[in-house]
Amino acid sequence: MEKLGPQAASHRERTPVRKRRAAPAEAPAAPSPPAPGRRELLPLSRPSIGDAEIAAVVAVLRSGWLTSGPRVAEFERLFAATVGARHAVALSSATAGLHLTLLAAGIGPGDEVVTSPLTWAATGNMILAVGARPVFADVDPTTLNIDPAAVERALSERTRAIVPVHFAGQPVDLDTLRALAASHGAALIEDAAHALGTTYRGRPVGGGSAAAVFSFHPVKAITTGEGGMVATDDADFAARLRLLRFHGITRDAWKRYGSRGHPDYEVVELGYKYNLTDLQAALGIAQLARLDEFVTARTRVAGWYAERLRHVPAAAMLDPVSYPARHAWHLLVVRLRLDMLRVDRDAVMEELLAANIGVGLHFKALHLHRLYRDRADAAALPHATAASHAILSLPLFPAMVEDDVRDVVDALADVLHRHAA
Ligand SMILES: Cc1ncc(COP(=O)(O)O)c(C=O)c1O
Repeated sequence: MEKLGPQAASHRERTPVRKRRAAPAEAPAAPSPPAPGRRELLPLSRPSIGDAEIAAVVAVLRSGWLTSGPRVAEFERLFAATVGARHAVALSSATAGLHLTLLAAGIGPGDEVVTSPLTWAATGNMILAVGARPVFADVDPTTLNIDPAAVERALSERTRAIVPVHFAGQPVDLDTLRALAASHGAALIEDAAHALGTTYRGRPVGGGSAAAVFSFHPVKAITTGEGGMVATDDADFAARLRLLRFHGITRDAWKRYGSRGHPDYEVVELGYKYNLTDLQAALGIAQLARLDEFVTARTRVAGWYAERLRHVPAAAMLDPVSYPARHAWHLLVVRLRLDMLRVDRDAVMEELLAANIGVGLHFKALHLHRLYRDRADAAALPHATAASHAILSLPLFPAMVEDDVRDVVDALADVLHRHAA
């Protein structure tokens, strides 16, 4: 039985939908009628943790070995098989994965890395962390995935890597990007934080590039509390990641203190403390066994959204990509038709929150943040800029029921209707 937590009981409770009053654009500023909503917050996301996950973690707690050890090795094996890569290296986060992958690819000062502006801070920050320069290429306005034509324009003699983001769970056009990377001698490093469960032309995202970096943050397809994984087909690259994730030491703790270990060790280069623990890996193994169940449930929820949002003219879901793909539905992103509204996106988000509907912003483009403003040419990024002001994310997680989606879309429709231009 899945444990749904304290919000489960209220999950199906719903305040009655109040009759909508038509509010013509020229109506005097009367107090707005309360929006349809819920008694308790419907969160943007909630992990599904069942008895198997709890038992797996308890077994590790009882085992006497908590940090990286046999459960991490097993998680890596299972993960590599799931995503169709030869190797997988578990880390404390996808951020750590991006950091080490860029280092292991030899990227540093003087190098350029082409990436999407529509991403989480981690992608750009880790490029800066290794001393390289992020060069942003604009996104396709219909899918918000990086546009290969924009990537091509952004390439230079200094480009050492391309880091596309599989936005919201839809794959980028990997064949085109791999060909571009190969023709420029650059590494293709996939930010696959949203893409566990995603397929591209029938194959899971994970193998086939220099590396693909996954996240197990609690909002992601599966969780380890916090955690990440780098998938790669290259054994030497994987070995380098293993070295860098643990102080640049040749043997990890399991090998030094385990039954067949030897306590000697040597620091051979500057490394970090980015290992995943067995406690987390045990949770990850149990979650990974449910990946298909989770993607199927997310797809079902997305289908309910698609049906209902068709009747909300001022909001639209993103388009599907034009090549064969499975969307993992990490996020349910809608774009507002701001030309049809008298308020901005932030006001819509605030009113949804007031109606107890969890909302998110994925993402405010990196070039609009202070750290990046002087490092990017905003004029060359019109689609990412426009999307940054028009998108918002609605609740999407496997345990949602159809009534939840009805509540969300009713509340959104109400807010947009009351603020129609
Ligand atoms: C696109 C993208 N890349 C990287 C990350 C970083 O993942 P983590 O939180 O595991 O470091 C995230 C996290 O949300 C993300 O959305």
